[in-house]
Amino acid sequence: MYNLLKGKKGIIFGALDKNSIAWITAERAHEEGAQFVLTNAPIAMRMGAINELAEKTGSQIVPADATSMEDLDNLVEKSMEILGGKLDFVLHSIGMSVNVRKGKHYTESNYDFTTKGWDVSAVSFHKVMNVLYKQDAMNEWGSIVALTYMAAQRVFPDYNDMADNKAYLESIARSFGYFFGVDKKVRVNTISQSPTPTTAGQGVKGFDGFFAYADKMSPLGNATALECANYTISMFSDLTKMVTLQNLFHDGGFSNMGVSQSVMDYFDEQE
Ligand SMILES: NC(=O)c1ccc[n+]([C@@H]2O[C@H](COP(=O)([O-])OP(=O)(O)OC[C@H]3O[C@@H](n4cnc5c(N)ncnc54)[C@H](O)[C@@H]3O)[C@@H](O)[C@H]2O)c1
Repeated sequence: MYNLLKGKKGIIFGALDKNSIAWITAERAHEEGAQFVLTNAPIAMRMGAINELAEKTGSQIVPADATSMEDLDNLVEKSMEILGGKLDFVLHSIGMSVNVRKGKHYTESNYDFTTKGWDVSAVSFHKVMNVLYKQDAMNEWGSIVALTYMAAQRVFPDYNDMADNKAYLESIARSFGYFFGVDKKVRVNTISQSPTPTTAGQGVKGFDGFFAYADKMSPLGNATALECANYTISMFSDLTKMVTLQNLFHDGGFSNMGVSQSVMDYFDEQE
C-alpha cells in the first residue's frame, strides 16, 4: 500500500456486491487511507450486502437514487457533514438499461426504457456533478471519475442502448469537466474498462463470448475489477493532477488492436 489517498474524502456510488467494481474500489480506497461515504439506490440497498462493506471500510451509507436531484442534494450535504469537510474524489459506477434487462432488441427499443436507461446511466453523472458544483462540495484538485465501456466508440451489437448511454456519459464528462476545471480546478475523467464479470456486466447477452474474445484480442488480456480499482485510485491521487476531460482506456490494449495472433489461430483451427 502507498497511502495514496491519505486524508482524502469522497463518495463512492454503485457498490452492489463483492464483484462490483465500486466495491473493490472502496476496499482499495480504504487501504490507501481515504475516508468516504458509500451510496446506492435505495432499492439496491435492500439486498443488504453494502452494510458489510461499510463495516469493513468504516464508512457510513447514505442512500440515493442517482436520478433524483433531491436525493443527490441530501447525499452531498450529508457526506460533507459526516466527513467533516469538502470532497476530494467521487466515483460514479452506475449503469442500467431497461431494454437490456427486458431483452429488447436494439432495433426494437422501447423508448420509455431508453429514456430511463440514459437517465440512470448518463444523465445521473450530470446531476451528480451539478449538485457537487452548486454546493461547492469539491476541494481544488479533486477528481471525479465515471466508468464506461468502449461500445461508446465501436459497435458491440449485444451492448444494445448501453452503447449510446456510454457515449452520452463520456460527452458529459468532457462538457461538465470543462466548467469544473476552469471554475474549481477539479478534474473529470471516464475510465473505459474491459468486460468484467459483475452483475451489470453479466446482464449483457453473450457476456462470456464477449469476455473471452476481448481477452484473446488484448496483448495484456482483460483488466480485472481490482486492476480497474487500482487505476481509479491513481486517478484520485495527487499523481495525476493534470489529467482531465479524458476517456482513459483500461483494457489491456484492446482498444488499439486490429487482430491478434491468438484470435487468428482460433479461426485457422476452424478451417
Ligand atoms: N462489468 C463490465 O463489464 C463493465 C465494463 C466497463 C464498464 N462498466 C461500468 O462499470 C460501472 C459499474 O458496474 P459493475 O460492472 O461494477 O456492475 P454492478 O451491477 O455491480 O454495478 C452497477 C451499479 O449501478 C447501481 N445503480 C443502478 N441504478 C441506480 C440508480 N438509479 N441510482 C444509483 N445507483 C444505481 C446498481 O445498484 C449497482 O450498484 C457501470 O457504469 C458499468 O457500465 C462495467
